[in-house]
Amino acid sequence: MDERIVSQQADLEDAGLELSLRPQTLDQYIGQKKVKENLKVFIEAAKMRQETLDHVLLYGPPGLGKTTLATIIANEMGVNVRTTAGPAIERPGDLAAVLTALEPGDVLFIDEIHRLHRSIEEVLYPAMEDFCLDIVIGKGPSARSVRLDLPPFTLVGATTRVGLLTAPLRDRFGVLGRLEYYHEEELAQIVTRTSQLFDIEIETEAAFEVARRSRGTPRIANRLLRRVRDFAQVLQYDKITDVLAKDALERLQVDKLGLDHIDHKLLRGIIEKFNGGPVGLDTIAATIGEEPHTIEDVYEPYLLQIGFMKRTPRGRMVTNEVYHHFGLEVPKE
Ligand code: ADE
Repeated sequence: MDERIVSQQADLEDAGLELSLRPQTLDQYIGQKKVKENLKVFIEAAKMRQETLDHVLLYGPPGLGKTTLATIIANEMGVNVRTTAGPAIERPGDLAAVLTALEPGDVLFIDEIHRLHRSIEEVLYPAMEDFCLDIVIGKGPSARSVRLDLPPFTLVGATTRVGLLTAPLRDRFGVLGRLEYYHEEELAQIVTRTSQLFDIEIETEAAFEVARRSRGTPRIANRLLRRVRDFAQVLQYDKITDVLAKDALERLQVDKLGLDHIDHKLLRGIIEKFNGGPVGLDTIAATIGEEPHTIEDVYEPYLLQIGFMKRTPRGRMVTNEVYHHFGLEVPKE
């Protein structure tokens, strides 16, 4: 099997260490109460009936645990997980290779599923619905279609942009799970759990400090924790204290709301170059030298969530809160 297309467990975004930090069961998984409770029921029901779990679509901003949940679903069902991503599947044959290599009951995880080609989606429909593949053999007048049976499997699709999924694809998922930004206490619990795995003690207040600056996102919380741990190690602290955490986070240029230098560049760019907006996504992206889809998928969702940005038909605007946050005077109407 082509390693570029499918891998048994690799997360395409984070390598090695992140994987070993991940919870392996639903009980270990902190937060996302609604999604978790529902999944628990559907998994238990499928197991009682000795069926494969229906296809699951997980959606929400990056870093909230979609890949982790896919792995947990496979663990809970007692099956393998095969991981791939929308952009890695270039031809229908790539998907056919992945599907025919599945074992009965396996979980196939397709990250960034909104980036699948339409031609590939069409191969996926009968696979999802009837566990079969329609393959065209040959070209021209002698071409014929052959139907191949597939083992029953569970497709777990993940996307940051559910709106970009075509309706026929979306409709073929029996379980929809929307992941939300995490609460501060949940992130503090995650940070504390990760510290235990790192075998370093952390003061409760320090865990909350990291949590507050993690933009509701476990991936960011764990990344900040790793950097704070570096400071602790080099400065020879035997535990992560509140003071150390605050100091390290200041040095990392992560502000009190967890905004980093790219958030700052974006917000200040809109204020300084466009009087607070509205400004089109492509224009602001070009001005600050970032990719429009990175702004749209990674930075903007949290800024919208905390009420720092608004999307209007004429473009993006910052709100008065941003001026307050930066200690600037709010401009008159
Ligand atoms: N590590 C990253 N995300 C987590 C979560 N939701 N629960 C527990 N540990 C995590």
